[in-house]
Amino acid sequence: MKMKSIVIGTLFLIGANSYAQHLTLKADNIDRIVKELTLEEKARLLVGRENSKSKTGVPGAAGTTQGVERLGIPGVVLTDGPAGVRISPIRKGDSQTYYATGFPVGTALACTWNPELVENVGKAIGEETLEYGCDVLLAPGMNIQRTPLCGRNFEYFSEDPVVSGIMAAAYVNGVQSNGVGTSIKHYAVNSQETNRIEVDEIVSQRALRELYLKGFEIAIRKSNPWTVMSSYNRLNGTWTQSSPELLITILCDEWKYDGLVMTDWTNERRTSYDRVAAGNELLAPGHDWQETDIIENVKKGNLSMDIVDARVKRLLEMIVKTPRFKGYKFSNKPDLEAHAALTRQASTEGMILLENKDNTLPLKGVKTVALFGKTSYDFIAGGTGSGDVNKPYVIDLMTGLSNAGLTINEDLKQLYRIHKDFNDKANKVSGERKELTELKVSRRSIERLAASNDLAIFTIGRQAGEGRDRHIDNDFNLTTDEREMLEDICNAFHALGKKVVVIMNMGSVMETASWKEMPDALLMAWQPGQEGGNSVADVLLGKQTPSGKLTMTFPIMASDVPAVNNFPTGTGSKHGDRRRNVDYTLHEEGIYVGYRYFTTFGKKVSYPFGYGLSYTTFAYSKPVVKATANGFTASIVVKNTGNVDGKEAVQLYVAAPNSGLDKPVRELKAFAKTGTLKPGESETLHFHISTYDLASFNEAESEWQTATGKYEVQFGASVEDIRATATFNNKKMFSSKTNNVLRLNRELKEIKP
Ligand code: GLC
Repeated sequence: MKMKSIVIGTLFLIGANSYAQHLTLKADNIDRIVKELTLEEKARLLVGRENSKSKTGVPGAAGTTQGVERLGIPGVVLTDGPAGVRISPIRKGDSQTYYATGFPVGTALACTWNPELVENVGKAIGEETLEYGCDVLLAPGMNIQRTPLCGRNFEYFSEDPVVSGIMAAAYVNGVQSNGVGTSIKHYAVNSQETNRIEVDEIVSQRALRELYLKGFEIAIRKSNPWTVMSSYNRLNGTWTQSSPELLITILCDEWKYDGLVMTDWTNERRTSYDRVAAGNELLAPGHDWQETDIIENVKKGNLSMDIVDARVKRLLEMIVKTPRFKGYKFSNKPDLEAHAALTRQASTEGMILLENKDNTLPLKGVKTVALFGKTSYDFIAGGTGSGDVNKPYVIDLMTGLSNAGLTINEDLKQLYRIHKDFNDKANKVSGERKELTELKVSRRSIERLAASNDLAIFTIGRQAGEGRDRHIDNDFNLTTDEREMLEDICNAFHALGKKVVVIMNMGSVMETASWKEMPDALLMAWQPGQEGGNSVADVLLGKQTPSGKLTMTFPIMASDVPAVNNFPTGTGSKHGDRRRNVDYTLHEEGIYVGYRYFTTFGKKVSYPFGYGLSYTTFAYSKPVVKATANGFTASIVVKNTGNVDGKEAVQLYVAAPNSGLDKPVRELKAFAKTGTLKPGESETLHFHISTYDLASFNEAESEWQTATGKYEVQFGASVEDIRATATFNNKKMFSSKTNNVLRLNRELKEIKP
């Protein structure tokens, strides 16, 4: 009998072993695979790998996951970034190039107020992600633009969470329609670049919920990002990456997020197992000592195997969705030509016409242009750091204007070329990398140029990026040279009855109040991607009517922004052993960021949130608001009352009744944009707002509440230009403790099928 059972047992083991040998990952056997994996293999799966140290990678991509070959689990490729796929364009021994399209930066996309356009841009970037063999795009960046000085504002969408969430969702749906993933980032409160790996962001629960988390919540509700990226910083004393409250309680239990959380590219932390316990499924970029830390702490009982299994399961659920797992044969030939045309058009729709005296624009009867400003000849397509893209080319403004048939003054062109060559050569000799200063063109030369050219264009450029914040002097503010040049150009050209157009080429806002009256027209071009010069020319010449509007306030002075008093402006004073605004940053302004502050406290601004001019005009009429079982629907008729085609972005604000909780005088709750309206044409825009959308976060009771009473619904052309109003009477108190928020939103069909 014994022999028989030994034989049967042996046969079983051989069978099981050979079965295990043939066991490979499938979408429907993940639980089985998790059981089969050893602890070492599980730790390996939870820790990524630098691209260069990985068998899988695509040259230049940000990193990969690790695979387990014996069970058919591939490593997959993670690549930046929000403005386009960031990979190496040249590969040793390979004659093909691997450039990716440089699209407009995040803030430029948001200023289109056109989620459909943003989804189309996402589709294109997703196609390039797929065809270049990558699986997850580490985008969009969507942190709140708390101050004008954050180095990564260019990558983010807005000072407002509704704009941020809706734009992020559109972007995610676009990218993921290609069967590749995204990573909404950086969750959460990555509000400064100074000391970003260590800084402790001290934020009230209300500001956290209503401002810094709300965008992520909306994005998850309206799209379904494959991954969320947990940020570097601390939040109220705890690393975000080690916060179960943030990564499990809020993200998964409350918002029902069922995707994967990966860390931002941190390796310096002392321990790693706690970050797995807190809710990260992938430690990126990843180092082998992190695998050891996980294994050792499971063996010590500090990290349960159940948690490890749960994290591994979510990781595998993502892996089985990837093109690499599905064996997709990527072409390395995305449609760059079509995407170049798309970025050219898309970036014009995010440009903002700030001034246009006597209809200077679109240009009429202009043939010769005196083109000033170093940036005119070296246009800034995007920001720096992981958000930059290795683009095939950048069309600068000189080229864009020439392509449009304008004649650019040759002498000035030469002057700027010599100026740049000199700086390049000087840097070569000195080994330094001195930034090119603005060329000081003499007043005499400017006067001569005014006599021989029809128009002056002066580009003011600013660059910023990951790892450093902006300064107030000579960055947020004009430099002395720029101011003097602008004065001389305006004096000389205006003396001859000729016009001056200023182009702002930057990734965030700057000081404008002290000089915006000087030129005849002012266009914010942002960092518009590789076709920038052509896009600006399309707007200046009226091929595209500008329809962009601000998603961030232009303050009069940087110090007018309350948060700037608690922001690293290069001071970083030490209080005890912790440096204020460097080791910790106090969000003393609470929810009063951007227009919430300026509008509520009646502070003047240079240009308000939601502001933007057009070449035509629009009238708003017939505001209608109808109560529904869960909030209200609203509509407004928009008519083109001008002489040229145009599009209009309408913002829906709500002024809440007094409820014992201090509230901003109005808050953006929705927005919509018309299609192109011909002169005289109208379009009715529709909105729906849930009771939950109207809620404020009551810290004392730790719940969302929508008070009963009269809510004024305001249809705005900007936050300071309310064109029509209506009323919604909320008859029943809403509280998130007694109402299932997610069910309410599902009823609104917020969740994509
Ligand atoms: C960076 C950035 C993040 C990027 C990652 C990979 O530090 O913070 O946005 O996706 O590393 O490059």
